[in-house]
Amino acid sequence: MNIFLLGATGNTGGEILKRLIPEKYTIKILVRNPAKLNLTELKQFNQVELIQGDVFEPGKLMKHFKGNDLVISALGTGKDNSYTEIYSQGGKNILSAMRINGIRKLITITSGLIDMSDPSTDNFFMNRIIRPNYNKVYYDQTRWETILDNTTDIDWVCVRPTNLLNKPFTGKYRINLNHCPKGGWKIGRADLADFIIKQIDSNEFVHQKPVIAY
Ligand SMILES: NC(=O)c1ccc[n+]([C@@H]2O[C@H](COP(=O)([O-])OP(=O)(O)OC[C@H]3O[C@@H](n4cnc5c(N)ncnc54)[C@H](OP(=O)(O)O)[C@@H]3O)[C@@H](O)[C@H]2O)c1
Repeated sequence: MNIFLLGATGNTGGEILKRLIPEKYTIKILVRNPAKLNLTELKQFNQVELIQGDVFEPGKLMKHFKGNDLVISALGTGKDNSYTEIYSQGGKNILSAMRINGIRKLITITSGLIDMSDPSTDNFFMNRIIRPNYNKVYYDQTRWETILDNTTDIDWVCVRPTNLLNKPFTGKYRINLNHCPKGGWKIGRADLADFIIKQIDSNEFVHQKPVIAY
């Protein structure tokens, strides 16, 4: 299977790439800054092709999506809460390039906290500290989810992580549709990557928004 990954220089994208390589997938990664990767190590794996680019370059996506079977987007803004369209406009660019190239499946990431109807995140810490700190990011993730809600021709899975941690893989986590699993509010990126890898061959969460937490 040929997989196109966006966000491979990021924390979660890096974990996903680490998991894709031993699975022997053919992988194309689009990164803005290749210097952030260990290129010497990557060159050992001749199944990885690197493309320098940006999700805001639709022509590049259209060209390089060719021949792929599935797209994984681990795009994010780090700690930056400036106005962004990487999810909404970036997502539209991804969907258009997928359609042109006949790619059917997309795995994408937003956040468990964008769902204001979730009683388990309706508390002082989330509402007064975390949500205001990331309100512009969450706004664009919400726009992206609205686009996905109206997308039926692509088999998308929208993974909503809780608070992300850089901790070792455990394989022990809970999944709940839309809302956080009771009492769960954090997840390691290696476990998030594990769940994402599992979605490659599974249709269980197509057109769904699973929240992942310990
Ligand atoms: N942090 C949390 O606690 C938390 C909680 C819930 C959900 N999330 C979501 O989980 C996802 C992964 O988060 P993370 O912290 O692991 O990711 P991250 O380290 O912030 O990585 C983001 C990746 O996106 C890339 N990127 C950003 N803008 C781009 C553009 N215009 N074109 C191409 N690539 C671009 C970055 O490239 P560069 O290396 O070039 O910057 C980087 O590779 C994000 O969507 C985040 O919002 C995070």
